[in-house]
Formats: sequence, structure tokens, C-alpha cells
Amino acid sequence: MVGTRKILKLLKIGDHKWDVNNYEYVDLIQNLSANDREIVKALDNIGEGELSAIGLIRQHEARVHEFESRDLAKDFYESVMYGFCMINYEEMRHGFILKEMAMLAKTGESFIDNVDSSFMHELMFETNEIYSNPYESLMSLLIGEITNVELYASVERQLEDVRIKQIVNQIKLDEQKHKDAWYKIIKRMVDASEVHRENFTTAFKNIHYVHQAEISRYFKDGASSVEKFFTPSVSTFVLEEKFKFMSKIFGESPISKQQMLKEQITHVHKALVA
Ligand SMILES: [Fe+2]
Ligand SMILES: [Fe+2]
Repeated sequence: MVGTRKILKLLKIGDHKWDVNNYEYVDLIQNLSANDREIVKALDNIGEGELSAIGLIRQHEARVHEFESRDLAKDFYESVMYGFCMINYEEMRHGFILKEMAMLAKTGESFIDNVDSSFMHELMFETNEIYSNPYESLMSLLIGEITNVELYASVERQLEDVRIKQIVNQIKLDEQKHKDAWYKIIKRMVDASEVHRENFTTAFKNIHYVHQAEISRYFKDGASSVEKFFTPSVSTFVLEEKFKFMSKIFGESPISKQQMLKEQITHVHKALVA
């Protein structure tokens, strides 16, 4: 497969995994300040968003599989492989860490010891199908990570306890790696083919305001519980980052910052208020 060596190089970045302490956070949560405890609780639904990334990778593979041009579809297998081998694993870790800590803070009970298989099935297989082709699902994976990095950076700044700051920092670093990997994968496709370039341009215009976790039915709850981390400066930075990445991929962004902002606001209003 074309790109196999490159994808193995991207996957190697994750070889030195950070220690998740066997998902044992009872002591940590018991000793948190009121400020940190509230933050951990607010991240509960974000844990579901993390686990729904597995659903998105499954959907992405489905969009690639059903894509009418087999010739174009074959170029997506690098992204499918990265998704199945790296994203599924790391987002699973993020999801379980956040859910475990949130549940301990809320109820004193372990999430991991009590989660049932129907919930895991729901997260992975009962997600909303919001992408019409593999260009949209792949572009959304990049766009989502741009937001995720800034979300965790903002959470980290508001935390007090150094140990929990460290956990959030590690999640942020993982998201940073994912962002860079998706960027490299898309950039290679855009540089290699005019058809890919056009299709990614259209995909960006269609879905630049969608967050990948919107495939989860818990997205609305998650988005409202972390609203306080999206201060005006964080939201502005996310927009700037999207614009910067599109300029790097396409030479210039397919749409202006003004237009992006306008469509983003309309979408958020529809998704969260309506
Ligand atoms: Fe994540
Ligand atoms: Fe990620």
C-alpha cells in the first residue's frame, strides 16, 4: 500500500505511551480542591465524545468503503489505518480516564467497573451519520483535533492540582499528535491529486463548523458543560488555527475568516440553542 512506511512512522510517535496508572484515580479525586472537582465533573460528557471517536473511525472506514471511485478510495487507507491503530486506542484511553475521574467525583463509584456493554455498543455503533463522503469525515477528524487541543489547554490552565494538570496535559499532547498526523495525511493527498484537492476544499466548506463529537448523542450536554473553557480568546484562537491549517494545506483557505465565523455562530446556535 502506498504510504505504508509513512503511516508506520506516524504511528511510531505513539510508541512511548504515558502511564495511565491502571485507571486508578480514587486517591487523586478524593484530594481535589472544589475548583478541580467541578472541572473533572464538567468533563464527564467529554469522555463520551472521546469514546465516540471510535464510532467516527468506523464511519470513516464505511465512507471510504462505499465511495464510488475505487481509484480515489485507495488513497484513504492511510487514514483508515491510522484511525484504527492509533485513534481508536488513544481516544479509548482519554474516554475511560475522563469518565472514570468524573464518575468518582460525582458518585464515588468507578465507571470502568460498572460500565455495561450496551453503552459501549451505543458509543461505537449507534452514532449519527453526519458525513456524506470520506473527504468530510477525514477533514472533520483534523478540525475536531484543532478544537480539542485548545479545549484541553484551557482546562489545564484552570486546574490547580499538578497531578491532574499532568493528565490533562498528556491528553492534550496526544491530541496535538493526532492533529499533526491528520494534517500530514490530508496534505499529502491534496498535493498528490487535483481531484483530492477539490474534494477536500468542498468538504471543508461543508463541515468546517462541525465538531467530530457531534456524531454522539451526548454532544449537546458535553458542549454546554465545557462552555466556560471556550473563553473569547480561546474561541478566536481555534478559528485562527483552522484558518492557518487550511492555508497550509491549500495555499489559501477556501473561505475567509469572516465567513467561517459567521457560519460557525449560526451552526452553534442551531446545534445548541434550537
Ligand atoms: Fe482525545
Ligand atoms: Fe484525538
